[in-house]
Amino acid sequence: MNDRVIIRFEHVTKQYDDDPPVLDDVSFEMERGKFYTLLGPSGCGKTTILRLIAGFIEPTKGNIYFNGKLMNGVPANKRQVNTVFQDYALFPHLNVFENVAFGLRIKNLDKKTIETKVREALRFVNLEGYENREIHEMSGGQRQRVAIARAIVNEPEVLLLDEPLSALDLKLRTEMQYELRELQRRLGITFIFVTHDQEEALAMSDEIFVLNKGKIEQRGTPKDIYDEPINRFVADFIGESNIIPGKMLADFSVEFAGKQFECVDHGFEPNEPVDIVIRPEDLEITTREQGKLQVRVDSILFRGVHYELCCYDDNGNEWLVHSTKKAEVGEEIGLYFEPEAIHVMRRVETKENRGGER
Ligand SMILES: Nc1ncnc2c1ncn2[C@@H]1O[C@H](COP(=O)(O)OP(=O)(O)OP(=O)(O)O)[C@@H](O)[C@H]1O
Ligand SMILES: [Mg+2]
Repeated sequence: MNDRVIIRFEHVTKQYDDDPPVLDDVSFEMERGKFYTLLGPSGCGKTTILRLIAGFIEPTKGNIYFNGKLMNGVPANKRQVNTVFQDYALFPHLNVFENVAFGLRIKNLDKKTIETKVREALRFVNLEGYENREIHEMSGGQRQRVAIARAIVNEPEVLLLDEPLSALDLKLRTEMQYELRELQRRLGITFIFVTHDQEEALAMSDEIFVLNKGKIEQRGTPKDIYDEPINRFVADFIGESNIIPGKMLADFSVEFAGKQFECVDHGFEPNEPVDIVIRPEDLEITTREQGKLQVRVDSILFRGVHYELCCYDDNGNEWLVHSTKKAEVGEEIGLYFEPEAIHVMRRVETKENRGGER
């Protein structure tokens, strides 16, 4: 086994009573020192994965390994893992210093060591000088940093972060995204970060796991996930997209919107039904003659840096276009795109699709 692997899930299922499994036969590996994000809609199983890693719950089936050692049955306090919870779960009756020192006091470390470690942890999160502040005197972003200091003071090998930024306003949230990413680099430990915000996931991660209904739909770098979504669910979840039904005629040739196009995809069955994705920013506005597709502008919105146009082709497909060029509502325009802009996805990938075909 790759000795960079720190966490391994082997056919892990978590099921409560007779309900459908909340995690369904999930297998993956995570490497040391990377920033991972679990991304997916509410209820897809993100927190469940964190709780399994932390040891707050046990799998119904399957095995979880930490540094190659089986963790099933190992209590939470014996795992090299710390968690930052969504609500930070700070102790309101303790000041900043004592909040961070809490775990060390439980371990019965001597006073001097505790003092040194707490100060170091607070310095790491830029909270030097705040030792004696009460928690209610701290802002949301500062509380968040106290929660992180409290987790890293225990020198975990893995830090689990369950939507730690969701309570913050947009500006602070963006700042904290930079800070967290920077902190992960400085500490060099593994971060597993949970969010249902796709932009946050794209901005922060080395690797993203996209989850849906207790399954991993796709894992990959932000670029992989954004540029090559494996199916409609991922494409839809990860950003605004045009997702159009089509047919793979042969290698490098795809049909959609009633026309044939050159593409870069291959290895499909002849005439295999597919979904194609084209990102709104990959569509260029041209004249009707120069366009590969002819559409009619239905509505237009100014978005600050670009215009967002909603258009329809003659087959009734909707096309979203992001462009710095403007067009008029009702205007007939052409859309140009490179073969590389067309992403072809197999149809049968999600459970939903399979369910729908029955
Ligand atoms: N103790 C439990 N008993 C029964 N069902 C549970 C229990 N804990 C979690 N679940 C169910 O497991 C599923 C996954 O929950 P989980 O908390 O992992 O979701 P999540 O992806 O973190 O969602 P959110 O984004 O809303 O936090 C949900 O349908 C939830 O209702
Ligand atoms: Mg959750």
